Amino acid sequence: MIALLLAAAVAATPAPEVSPEPPAKLGLCVSCHGTDGRSRMPAAPHIGGQNEAYLVWALTQYREGRREGDVMGSVIGVLSRRDIEALADWYARQTWPAVRDAQAEESR
Ligand code: HEC
Repeated sequence: MIALLLAAAVAATPAPEVSPEPPAKLGLCVSCHGTDGRSRMPAAPHIGGQNEAYLVWALTQYREGRREGDVMGSVIGVLSRRDIEALADWYARQTWPAVRDAQAEESR
């Protein structure tokens, strides 16, 4: 009976929000794009909250030499297809800075 009650209590508890593990290669990106995709330098674009498919596409373009980047061209060579998908997934989950700033304005 106690076991049944416990099971019911566990079932009623909402599942915690699962935050995904940071991708293995995220450390290669943070000095310029941050962990949240907010640019850390004037030349680097914001990528946090960008569409996932676009990020996969852009990174693949760099990797295949179809898009030139002064900086990205030298970073991209070490990324596998899987790394690119994991990083695109991670950054797409973040909040685009302009939206976040607008939300912060509103809550003041
Ligand atoms: C040393 C700084 C630096 C590092 C490290 C870096 N980037 Fe970049 N990133 C840039 C710059 C600068 C650009 C603009 C294009 C260029 O000049 O290469 C860019 C462009 C991009 C773009 C294209 C954005 C768009 O809107 O088209 C993506 C996506 C991206 N970076 C993702 C990453 C990821 C993922 C990593 C880690 C593997 C990474 N970058 C590491 C500086 C950096």
